[in-house]
Amino acid sequence: GKPLIPYDQIGAETLSKLVDAFYQRVSAHPKLAPIFPNDLSETARKQKQFLTQYLGGPNIYSAEHGHPRLKARHHPFPITPDRAQAWLECMSEAMDEVNLSGQFRETFYNRLVLTAHHMVNDYDSEE
Ligand code: HEM
Repeated sequence: GKPLIPYDQIGAETLSKLVDAFYQRVSAHPKLAPIFPNDLSETARKQKQFLTQYLGGPNIYSAEHGHPRLKARHHPFPITPDRAQAWLECMSEAMDEVNLSGQFRETFYNRLVLTAHHMVNDYDSEE
């Protein structure tokens, strides 16, 4: 049969739960919370849109915000290697919480590792 696109494998509902579980951890993380807004509802809404298209679903992020230009959109924030690691730890724990496992999780997580490392824009500051 036709191979499932990753977005159809995870489904909108689990993706939404994943993003909520992720930002719950971000908001409590001492290395991440200080660079994020206090109210993460708009951030989570955009991340749901972004990950939908990242996983091959409809391009709803770009339809509302234009080309992602992710690295440029992160320029205002000091993304140190430490913070990239913290981001990935929050994501891994969120994946545990919504029971993502197996090859799907592995492939998705490995893509996020590459994207997170690409966001690093500050190699100096110690937080
Ligand atoms: C926005 C931090 C990695 C996707 C943001 C914002 C911060 C941030 C502070 C702004 C939040 C706001 O003003 O609402 C970080 C840090 C990362 C990281 C510390 C560690 C490497 C990633 C990765 C992705 C991603 C790997 C994608 C897989 C996004 C998206 C937005 C965003 C889609 C919203 C952009 C917009 O305003 O339209 N991030 N981020 N980020 N981040 Fe990250």
